[in-house]
This record gives sequence, structure tokens and C-alpha cells, in this order.
Amino acid sequence: MVTHKNGTPPIQPNGIYARIVGWGMAVPDYVMTNDEMSAIVETTDAWIQERTGIKERRIASDKESSATLGYRAARRALDVANILPIDLDLIIVATSTPEHIFPATASLIQDWLGASRAGGFDLSAACSGFVYALDMAAQSIRSGSIRTALVIGSETMSRVLDWTDRSTCILFGDGAGAVVIQASDQPGGVLSSVLRSDGAGCDLLAIPTENARENGEHKVNRMYMAGSEVFKFATRVVDESLRQTTEKAGISIEDLKLIVPHQANQRILATVAKKLRLDMDRFMSNMDRYGNTSAASIPIALCEAIEQNKIQQNDYIALVGFGGGLSWAAMVIQWGVPQRDEQRSRLNEQRRKAFYWFVWWRRRVLRWQRSVNNFTKRFRPKQ
Ligand code: UT7
Repeated sequence: MVTHKNGTPPIQPNGIYARIVGWGMAVPDYVMTNDEMSAIVETTDAWIQERTGIKERRIASDKESSATLGYRAARRALDVANILPIDLDLIIVATSTPEHIFPATASLIQDWLGASRAGGFDLSAACSGFVYALDMAAQSIRSGSIRTALVIGSETMSRVLDWTDRSTCILFGDGAGAVVIQASDQPGGVLSSVLRSDGAGCDLLAIPTENARENGEHKVNRMYMAGSEVFKFATRVVDESLRQTTEKAGISIEDLKLIVPHQANQRILATVAKKLRLDMDRFMSNMDRYGNTSAASIPIALCEAIEQNKIQQNDYIALVGFGGGLSWAAMVIQWGVPQRDEQRSRLNEQRRKAFYWFVWWRRRVLRWQRSVNNFTKRFRPKQ
């Protein structure tokens, strides 16, 4: 029985709610086991499993990037939502491993999808990024400024790892998860969120670039982490922010059917579960198969929780992320997906296929036109 402290969940004065209507994930095919890891750095399968709960992770091929993985996850999310890319108003990609500083990964994905009416930007909040991005999208929807958004968490952590540092490289993996979030007049969806950061801990977990003022002994474009400090921070903020966000939503922690946390370390989840006096089965965990995929870990875990029927209509769930910044973020969602019209779904599936085909050709023709223009420019008389 759900205990709303003030009788009902938060009511939106304008009657617009933001509900998740589609989800998808994509991970590289290549599975790297702990034993393979022990051929790279001095470690063992037993140590990694015992200290983290991780058994294996996915590693991107040369042809894959945060953009390509995010695109694949986005296509699946649009299929589930049963909408066309032109229905999207906004694309936000949470990532710390973009292909470029700019253009944004969101712009690449927008182009590949043919989401020609959508704005797009990348959001940098490390492992908390997906919850930040989902909150930004939900706020825009609830204010009435947009109707439909695509929110992606996508990472290729393998590209920024220091493969000589056994205390970090064993933890991370690559992958992407995406959700479509849409305006609805049905109460529910994203109910509350708490976004926080504490820049005093900015030197505990970082990827310095060439522009960093000082790097100490740290390598440029390689991640470093003071693991035990971050561990202590995580176990402090996860339960605190879950308490705050459930209170804002007008429910109690016990009302949460499932908590989908950032997948950093199984021991962090065990500590938080103990503090909150919850059974471990209330926490979604799949880090044994993917490791820590930073901003992608929450949407990937959410997708698998849905596939495994761990979330039903009207259930209250929480997402909670924490990481570099230091940053952390928690959110309560009342789950509720509109009924699927099978006939319309089949029709839209055909429309999407034709649309992607058209978009692919249009992109090739545009690029080709541009190179022909550039080539013929040389022979045109100068004005
Ligand atoms: O996504 C962002 C958020 N990230 C996190 O939340 C990560 C939080 N931190 C952690 O999960 C843990 O701190 C780690 C898994 C990173 C490290 O576990 P720990 O139990 O805190 O280990 P430690 O750093 O205190 O190191 C203990 C020992 C050390 O040896 P000595 O000095 O005691 O002789 C390390 O050198 O374990 C050693 N060690 C390893 N041994 C075998 C560190 N890494 C490894 C390794 N294999 N891969």
C-alpha cells in the first residue's frame, strides 16, 4: 500500500506530465572477461568479483563509438515508443566520451535518425549524467515547451581508461541506453528529482584534457580515480538523495518497487541497502555483465529491468546516479506506459523503415553535393 504523505502524488498545475514511453539499449559484441583483464594488468578474476561484483564487460570495436552505440539504442527506443524521428523535439546525450568536443554527439545522432525538428546537446555530469538529462527533458515537457524528447546515456569508457592502472581499468565497460519521454495528461511519470554537485571533490575522479590548468602526475585524456574516497562519497549520497527525492514525490522509500542505481560496485549497493533497510532484490544490478558504463549504466539497467518484468504499471521506481564532479542525482518515476495499438505499430514500423532509408540516401546525396561543389569551386572564375 503506497503511503502518500499529502494524499496524492504531486499534481502538475498545467496538467502536463512527462512519461517514459520507449526504451532501448545497445552494447558492443565483444565480451572481455576478468581472466582476459588479468593478462593486461596484475589482477585476478577472484579479486575483481569479490571487490566489485564484476565478471565481464563489453568493449567497443574500432568502428563503434558513443555516437554509434547511442544511435542503435535510440532506434530501439523509438521502435518501442512507436514514433517517427520527426516527432522528436529534443535530443540530449549524457556522455563523458564523445567523439568530438563539438559537434555534440546529439547532433550526430539527430542527423543519422533524420530527427530534423529536434534540438540537441550533450550533457556532461559523468555517471550522474543520465538522471540530469532525463530531468532536463522532463522539465521541458512539463513546462509545455516541448512534447517529446529522446534521452541517451552513451559511453566508450575503454577509450579513456589508463590500461596500466589496475584500480580503474578493471571497472569500466562500453554501452548505451536510451528512453523516449513524452507529454501526457495522465498523472505520473517523472514525479521528483534531486540534482546535486560538490566541486570540492573534482580531483577525486577525472579525465583531464589538454586544457587542464594542472594535471599533477595524471595523464591527458585518461581517467583517474581515488577509489576508496569515491566509494565513501557514494555510500553517503545514494541513500540521502533517495530519501530526499521520495519525500518530494510524497512517497516513502518502502513504496519503491525497484531502485535502478548507477552500476559502480556491488558493495556500494549492499551498503546502501543495509542503510535503507531494504532487501537487495529491490536494487537492479547487472554490473556482473557490463561493469561500470558511466552515464549509460542506468538506462541499460532500466531496459533490462523492464525486459525482466521487474516493473509493472503504476509502480514507483527510483533512479540514482553518482560520480565525477563530484555529482549525484536521484529521481522518482511512477511507471505507466500507454497501451500499444498493434495495427498502428505495424504501420509505423514500415514508415520508420522507409524513413531511415530515405534519411540515409538524403545524407549521402547532401555530402556528395558538397564535395562536388567544393571541387568545381576551383575552376570557377574569381570575383
Ligand atoms: O562511476 C563512478 C563512481 N565510481 C565508484 O563508485 C567506484 C568506487 N570505488 C570502488 O568501487 C573501489 O574503491 C575500488 C573497486 C575501485 C577499489 O576497491 P577497494 O576495496 O577500495 O581497494 P583499494 O583501492 O583500497 O585497494 C586495496 C588493495 C591495494 O593493495 P594494498 O595497497 O592493500 O597492497 C590495491 O593495490 O587492492 C589492490 N588492488 C588490486 N588488487 C588486485 C587495487 N586494484 C586491484 C586489482 N587487482 N584490480
